[in-house]
Amino acid sequence: MKLPENGISREDALARLAKMRENDLHWRDGKTFAYVYQPTPEAEEVAKTAYGEFLSENALDPTAFPSVMAMENDVLAMAAAHLGGDPAKVWGSFTSGGTESIICAVKSARDHARTHRPHITRPRMIIPVTAHAAFHKAAHYLCVELDLVEVDPETFGASPEALAAAITDDTILLVGSAPSYAHGACDDIVGIGALAKERGLLFHVDGCMGGWMLPLYKKLGADVPDFDLSVPGVTSISMDLHKYAYCPKGASVVLYNDKDLKAHQIFSCSNWTGYTIINPTVQSTKSAGPVAAAWTLSQYLGLDGYLDLARPVLEATIAAKQGINEIPGLRVMGDPLMPLIAVVSDEVDIFHVVDEMKVRGWYIQPQMGLRRPDGTRYRENFHLSLNATSAKQVPGMLVALRESVEAARAYPKIDMAAQLQTMLAGFDLEKLSDDAFGDLMGMAGVQGTNLPERMAAINGLLDALPPQIADKVLTAFFTNLNHASE
Ligand SMILES: Cc1ncc(COP(=O)(O)O)c(C=O)c1O
Repeated sequence: MKLPENGISREDALARLAKMRENDLHWRDGKTFAYVYQPTPEAEEVAKTAYGEFLSENALDPTAFPSVMAMENDVLAMAAAHLGGDPAKVWGSFTSGGTESIICAVKSARDHARTHRPHITRPRMIIPVTAHAAFHKAAHYLCVELDLVEVDPETFGASPEALAAAITDDTILLVGSAPSYAHGACDDIVGIGALAKERGLLFHVDGCMGGWMLPLYKKLGADVPDFDLSVPGVTSISMDLHKYAYCPKGASVVLYNDKDLKAHQIFSCSNWTGYTIINPTVQSTKSAGPVAAAWTLSQYLGLDGYLDLARPVLEATIAAKQGINEIPGLRVMGDPLMPLIAVVSDEVDIFHVVDEMKVRGWYIQPQMGLRRPDGTRYRENFHLSLNATSAKQVPGMLVALRESVEAARAYPKIDMAAQLQTMLAGFDLEKLSDDAFGDLMGMAGVQGTNLPERMAAINGLLDALPPQIADKVLTAFFTNLNHASE
């Protein structure tokens, strides 16, 4: 598109905007089990109003907008108390999301090691294979090497023994999830904390998903494992507010119970000709909308409001797990307490189940498998994240799922791995040229950057490709996806 020569009316511009989203997921009906976290419409409206009020304020400079700093500190104090920390002894930052919180935590650990363990020239961190990809991204951005450890094949939780076996002289950071996204499984945070303490290592808990919800679940009487800042050995924790605290997107916190560690997060630059730059987080100029929304929502909902939002989700998760296990051909992986449910099948191609759900107006998320060193696999599956609105749709979702599984039986399970062996022989995978990429995607039914309605073949291809090659294919696809042509 070219910049229009002449502007149009507000109504027409907004009408064009509305038209733009025609093909988006229609998530407001609660039939989308990923990406969105819906509180009540009233709570959403309060948060949006607060966001709009502070949309243009710049959280770059806390001295220019003291209200923004005050709100950030209030949110951090509430978060610290929620996560078992002594607010007087916890330092942290408000960030734009889980990925930024994790990048900040890894940067702090890396720079802490540079100061306190200067002999380490190639810092390493140990993460379970179930840890969010944001840790891979942080490692990539910050030049920290990764050591991946396997998790229990039944519970999908990581044990301290597995992490202990991977520790080397260059290890600077241990990581555990509470819980992981993929299977909703909590690692043994108490055990890993004890290990971290014994070996003098930093330990980050990824509470992006569970940080807000698990303490509420505990108050509701659920059997919640210890995972927070009160666990000995935990040195930092991330918690997303734009997930189960139902804040608008762009809201997360990273907290430390060591001031020196937090200090290593901050980037300051006086060696240029412009204004003073002190960035505690990755972003520099940033809207104060997210922090204003988080602060206002905390006041509006309060603990009782949050408990009211958490209770139906807890109950719906139990009903969903049971209902799914009763559908012939489906099985929940592990036994997630959090509303993050991964489902596997020995009878049907789950990627066809995902497509069949879409035909019926439901969105569930495909997740790829991953090979273990012993040759077995973490199985491909589909994933459901429930929220306060979609929780109400669980009975309907189970009906649609049962139908979708039956419909998926009509599609033979494609042995992509076998087909790939011959396919890949013709490709120079090191240099995935545009042509080779086009051919490969063409075999999965993709023309250019237009994705087909049914995604099973593409998901099957991505599932069967070795991860390094899948990454190349995805990189090539995304490079082509965003272009400036008309
Ligand atoms: C456990 C966990 N950690 C980190 C992240 C990354 O968060 P974000 O997408 O907000 O960057 C996610 C996202 O789903 C997550 O589930």
